[in-house]
Amino acid sequence: MAISDAVFLSAHEAPGAQSVQRCDGCGHELDERDAAPACPVCGSLLAIVHRAPADANGVALTGAALRERLHARCCGMRGGHGSGVWRYESLIMPTAGDAITSHPEGNTPLLNRARVQQFAGCDGLLLKHEGYNPTGSFKDRGMTVGTTQAVRTGASAVACASTGNTSASLASYAAQAGIPGLVFVPAGKVALGKMAQTLAYGARTLLVRGDFDECLRLVQAASKELGIYLLNSINPWRVEGQKTIVFELLQQLEWDAPDFIVLPAGNLGNTAAFGKALREAHALGLITRLPRIVSVQAAGSAPFAKGFSEGFTTRHRVQAETIATAIRIGDPASWDRAVRAIRETNGLVLSVTDDEIIEAKVVVDAAGVGCEPASAASVAGVRQLVRAGVIRGSDRVVAILTGHVLKDPGTLVNIHQERDDVAGANRPIEIDATVDAVARVISNSRSS
Ligand code: F0G
Repeated sequence: MAISDAVFLSAHEAPGAQSVQRCDGCGHELDERDAAPACPVCGSLLAIVHRAPADANGVALTGAALRERLHARCCGMRGGHGSGVWRYESLIMPTAGDAITSHPEGNTPLLNRARVQQFAGCDGLLLKHEGYNPTGSFKDRGMTVGTTQAVRTGASAVACASTGNTSASLASYAAQAGIPGLVFVPAGKVALGKMAQTLAYGARTLLVRGDFDECLRLVQAASKELGIYLLNSINPWRVEGQKTIVFELLQQLEWDAPDFIVLPAGNLGNTAAFGKALREAHALGLITRLPRIVSVQAAGSAPFAKGFSEGFTTRHRVQAETIATAIRIGDPASWDRAVRAIRETNGLVLSVTDDEIIEAKVVVDAAGVGCEPASAASVAGVRQLVRAGVIRGSDRVVAILTGHVLKDPGTLVNIHQERDDVAGANRPIEIDATVDAVARVISNSRSS
């Protein structure tokens, strides 16, 4: 077995440790409390490898025993167990104890909405809505774990590059932990709700004249030189937290895995985290078969989809453009991990146009659910795969809605008040303050 193929620590590895950080490239190991942003030997990304959960005598738990333990924790309302992330503590950071920075977060719903199912052509479609997290996106799941690590390693400040959601999340968790937060965002390319949150929670916000990919390069260099703890999704603890989207949806389905899990993809941290979560859940016997991961990119920002179509022979970089600013990323950092996730789950990668994203978003929004543009890419992706005959109408599919509808009010105003080409646009109507004017509007809408 190659170094990177080990799922859990074996009995003779890392004696006395519950988890280690292991380099993806050369296998070099670091203590779990080491704050290195990457492997000090070869510079590759670090991943967390845990010892499999065991009983009081050190005997590894069976899948059934672990399922029972996790089920019992669903009743916990206080401390870590009230969080849909820290309930899975033994699978993400077993040594955290009480020293966690938690809002709490997670516990997001799996929604069953007929209008969205009809649009996608799939009766078995469920929506896992990560917009219900405290700052309105899935980022909080990784950020609670990353911030906890920052605190326990004594970080003086935390930093990230972001298209907006990571920065909002970092700002909130840094504020809670009492650590200064520094964020690097592409100037003029962050949705209004995300920018407002980041400023409100008090992070020092740098508007970089460049795109997300440049922001990421800059924050990596700056944090290395200035000793600031980096909290992008290349941080291995962020990945651990984001795994819980998968653990939680599997638990909500009583560990009967769906056929497909579909998610929007940009920097590929989430695709990588989903692959790791499924690998571990399968190895532990929590599930008996693997769902296929489907990563959906915006057509103008789709290097990974291009790579997939060529059998991943080449790593691509593009100049990214899309209305879905959250995934406006041309040089995804977690490429290799995401390739592994797609390969191991017999997954798929596809791209959807901005028009398809808007079309899906209008349907999700009008169903009373709502999501930000990037999130709608997953529903647009399901629709495309149903039309192509890859997903059958009866398949069980979970699409991840990664962010809240209020994240991007600018796009909403544009769709409903300014554009003429969007079906389902809901124009507001300005009237005089008279009952007659109201009556005219009502009779007009009856006749139209
Ligand atoms: N959906 C939303 C709403 C996002 O904010 C992001 C990433 C993604 C999907 C894609 O996830 O990068 O792990 O493939 N947002 C990052 C940020 C880049 O800075 O907020 P990914």
